Amino acid sequence: MALQRQLLKKALGEAKTKIGGSHFCHRPSLCCSFSTLPSSGADHEAALPLLPPFGYEPKPYNGPRGDEVFQKRKKFLGPSLFHYYQNPLNIVEGKMQYLFDENGRRYLDAFAGIVTVSCGHCHPEVLNAIMEQSKLLQHATTIYLHHAIADFAEALASKMPGNLKVVYFVNSGTEANELAMLMARLYSGSLDMISLRNAYHGGSSNTIGLTALNTWKYPIPQGDIHHVVNPDPYHGIFGSDAKSYVKDVQDHIDYGTSGKVAGFISETIQGVGGAVELAPGYLKLVYDIVRKAGGVCIADEVQTGFGRTGSHYWGFETQGVIPDIVTMAKGIGNGLPLGAVVTTPEIASVLAQKIQFNTFGGNPVCSAGGLAVLRVIDKEKRQVHCADVGSHLLGRLRDLQQRYESNYPLNSMSLEFSLL
Ligand SMILES: Cc1ncc(COP(=O)(O)O)c(C=O)c1O
Repeated sequence: MALQRQLLKKALGEAKTKIGGSHFCHRPSLCCSFSTLPSSGADHEAALPLLPPFGYEPKPYNGPRGDEVFQKRKKFLGPSLFHYYQNPLNIVEGKMQYLFDENGRRYLDAFAGIVTVSCGHCHPEVLNAIMEQSKLLQHATTIYLHHAIADFAEALASKMPGNLKVVYFVNSGTEANELAMLMARLYSGSLDMISLRNAYHGGSSNTIGLTALNTWKYPIPQGDIHHVVNPDPYHGIFGSDAKSYVKDVQDHIDYGTSGKVAGFISETIQGVGGAVELAPGYLKLVYDIVRKAGGVCIADEVQTGFGRTGSHYWGFETQGVIPDIVTMAKGIGNGLPLGAVVTTPEIASVLAQKIQFNTFGGNPVCSAGGLAVLRVIDKEKRQVHCADVGSHLLGRLRDLQQRYESNYPLNSMSLEFSLL
């Protein structure tokens, strides 16, 4: 990833000096974080290429300035918050792929709101669905009937393969993984969970155990979690040899558990860990041995779902498997606080033994917005867009790779995934 970024930077720098000005960006979505202003006086800014024209004027901003917001945030919000840039941006408006700061300056949001904005900021159809529902009824829990949650669940289930037809709605990816782990443990009758090294599955007391990056882990009990060798085809100790990585999983089951496990969870492309794909064929082999050990297989699609790989709607499809439980968040809501767990009727039924309730899970506004997101992703062919932009950038990076004789692996799926 770091090298991909470096190469991209070099490409952009070279193209800038060769082509210059606004002609540089022949595709709006490829021009990240360049100035929209001709010059603000600083030399380095004057040398930056311009963003292509965009027929939208941000509203005049009269709110508090960045300095004031920053001071207030430091005083009243937790010290664990971090920010990007030495002088953090005060973002006050968003429109499709662009963000605007307090001075009306436009930025390409190549980060897509930390891989969350799947249709574009303030997409009109998503906004309209949210506003119309808000005017009628903002809040109702599942103790009453409301069509929005049922319609959304039906639409989401229609996107899933096999018998993955039952949906639980939650508010975030962490919560989705919490619920998935709970179901795996109840269904299997075992506690041991297996996750990959370098994984990120959330920061709550339980999911912090699944997460396997020390930068995100506090020294608290981590639960009964076994972190197996990461099947990273490029930097992993067994290269792309899926069978050797799977042997490590079997060893953990044989030597670190009773022989029975609750489940296995993995991202299909590790996101927080640096856009790392899994060795080809890995999930198929792992799912087999985990199921033999009585466990369920969970795909964390928080980052990879909703067409972001370009080639498939779900990341797990790239490995030719059907999980027993799929967790999702981020792109599902285009910015709404929304997450979901989809599983089979059999596994879902384990939560009927006790009261299972989530005040905001399936909230009518989030459900109406989420349904609109699904429709927009299809209508506007966002998955094809990801494939298109990813392939274009990959081609440019490959040119650079040849020119600079770099042998760093450039991988199409993770690039598309990282650049939506
Ligand atoms: C793969 C993955 N799973 C789970 C999460 C946690 O999601 P949330 O931040 O919505 O709790 C994240 C967040 O980045 C993630 O990338």
